[in-house]
Amino acid sequence: MSQVTVIEHPLVQHKLTLMREQERSTAAFRTLLREVALLLAYEVTRDLPTELVDIQTPLAPMKAPKIAGKKLVFASILRAGNGLVDGMLDLVPSARVAHVGLYRDHDTLEAVQYFFKAPTNLEDRLVIVVDPMLATGNSVVAAVDLLKAKGARDLRYVCLLAAPEGVKRFTEAHPDVPLFTAAIDEKLTEIGYITPGLGDAGDRLYGTK
Ligand code: URA
Repeated sequence: MSQVTVIEHPLVQHKLTLMREQERSTAAFRTLLREVALLLAYEVTRDLPTELVDIQTPLAPMKAPKIAGKKLVFASILRAGNGLVDGMLDLVPSARVAHVGLYRDHDTLEAVQYFFKAPTNLEDRLVIVVDPMLATGNSVVAAVDLLKAKGARDLRYVCLLAAPEGVKRFTEAHPDVPLFTAAIDEKLTEIGYITPGLGDAGDRLYGTK
């Protein structure tokens, strides 16, 4: 069973509430998602290894910590994942970005792949998979299957909102991948929406219907 962390920081919870409200504009939703992504990235990276390096301050030389090892990869599940990646890149501008294009077949709710592009040497990197909504779990399970097939071994998954059904499916499929979310809602509707949720994250982010 993967480790599941619910990020209860008051700023995360406050921003999530604003995003849930149906009258929130597209522009405000996008800004809030970017802000909340930065806070989620802070939590998911809090145990990254550091190493002491020699630096010179204006006053004196010292040994000071820097993040050690290879660059991070944020793996965005298109298209709503991009809304989270933007905020995460504000915090970790040197990270690499992978894109996984999956759409949900509206009849079967299964994930269908249409695009994949990732940095090289995934086996040496920490790959943080991002997709705001963990609903059935089909998309993220397929995305992690794909990333593992391309070599990724050290993965984490960050979403904004999860349904209990998606948490179960993901943790059973990928017990080695820690899951981070701001909230676990009540359930999925018959058509695969998280309820109470916030609606379709991609539509709310890009102003589509
Ligand atoms: N994807 C969304 O954007 N919203 C949901 O509620 C479920 C899946």
